[in-house]
Amino acid sequence: MVYNNKENKSLKTLNKSFVAYSSTLKKREDYSWDFKKANTKEYTHCFHSYPAMMIPQVARRIIENYGLGSKLLFDPFCGTGTSLVEANLKGINAVGADINPLARLIAKVKTTRININYLDSCLQKFFDNIFKLNFASIDDYQSELPKIKNIDYWFSRETQVKLNIVFRYVESIEDEKVKNFFKVAFSETVRESSFVRSNEFKLVRIKNLEDKKDVDVFAIMSSKLLRNRQGLIEFQNVCPVNVESKIYDINSTINIPLNILTPNSVDIVVTSPPYGDSKTTVAYGQFSRFSNEWLGYKDAHQIDKKLMGGMKIKNLPYFNSRILNDTLNTLNKIDEKRTLDVLSFYNDFQAAIKNISKVVKKNGFACFVVGNRTVKNITIPNDEITVEFLTQNGFLHIETIIRNIPSKRMPIKNSPSNIIGETSTTMKNEYIVICQKIK
Ligand SMILES: C[S@@+](CC[C@H](N)C(=O)[O-])C[C@H]1O[C@@H](n2cnc3c(N)ncnc32)[C@H](O)[C@@H]1O
Repeated sequence: MVYNNKENKSLKTLNKSFVAYSSTLKKREDYSWDFKKANTKEYTHCFHSYPAMMIPQVARRIIENYGLGSKLLFDPFCGTGTSLVEANLKGINAVGADINPLARLIAKVKTTRININYLDSCLQKFFDNIFKLNFASIDDYQSELPKIKNIDYWFSRETQVKLNIVFRYVESIEDEKVKNFFKVAFSETVRESSFVRSNEFKLVRIKNLEDKKDVDVFAIMSSKLLRNRQGLIEFQNVCPVNVESKIYDINSTINIPLNILTPNSVDIVVTSPPYGDSKTTVAYGQFSRFSNEWLGYKDAHQIDKKLMGGMKIKNLPYFNSRILNDTLNTLNKIDEKRTLDVLSFYNDFQAAIKNISKVVKKNGFACFVVGNRTVKNITIPNDEITVEFLTQNGFLHIETIIRNIPSKRMPIKNSPSNIIGETSTTMKNEYIVICQKIK
């Protein structure tokens, strides 16, 4: 086919604009917040699994968009410290808070530098000891097991003894940083060698106990240690040396002590709070119970009660959120008892946001990654409730980004407006709420 000049020109122009359009589409695709194919286990993010972990790429992009040049990032519900790791990688100091001792241990170890030659010498010593153990002396380890509720229901006798051998070795390590590094690997080893179903956060026992009667505890522990060593090397290769993360046992709903964070001291908050009480949503305490018990942390059973929404309130609180009040009224007509559970959670969440808001500097950012839960077929719009709570505390809503939880792809929108009472069966989206402190 022959084109005349004019046609040729318009074709060229069309082609040019098509190329430009495709590259915009490509950029938009690259800019998706779904991070469908991203490696979420880079650096120290591989150290330990945990319920409802934040995707590192989400924390990273929030920091890139709103936190560059910041001096201090705060995560009041830091869990295993995803946002702290990402802050440190960007040269930003970080403070994390969590009630769960296991979460604090993991967050600390993920952000602590260790000299690799020294770590290697400790690892070598461990492998030499554990694999050359004189099994005649194994009887010594059958006594003095740590206090684990219903231990025989959850661990075979063989596993209990092997775990105790590893645990006692870990306890004997003198260097605190190395000891904690080993504890994190031990914690995952405990869970993997128990009779707990691996795909559950709650404690549910597997059906076929024979499969896990004689698990190779030493091999599991060794593979965790070597995997984490690799992650630590990657982290240390890129993380600036002059930054640090400090992690505290703070209940964000009660108060944030002045000796830890003074008012107006934080540049950016990057956090993913629970989206409901642990009993009816994500059971952080149950998930961590065995690790906390083996590691000797007190009150391992009580954690879920201490977390947001864990203690039922008796009086009707006043909420600074029209959307929340409307949603609760709708829910109350369906189920008064469930409404009380939900109320207790939001009473704590409202108090936590008040405390968190105080420590953020003027012009600083609060970035909350939240999920919208459904109770009795009523969607509770946590994203909008978070915006309302923050705006009541001196913040301006900048944007809310909807992120698909991968495998369920949906278009990206800004500033969504959920309809109260809208039903939904699964949680397909996560909402990244960005607000800036203006007062
Ligand atoms: C969604 S998880 C955070 C996960 C974290 N972003 C990560 O990537 O590992 C929420 C965390 O909030 C903690 N939490 C719940 N209530 C709390 C409270 N009142 N004060 C401090 N932490 C709390 C839980 O223990 C849990 O670790």
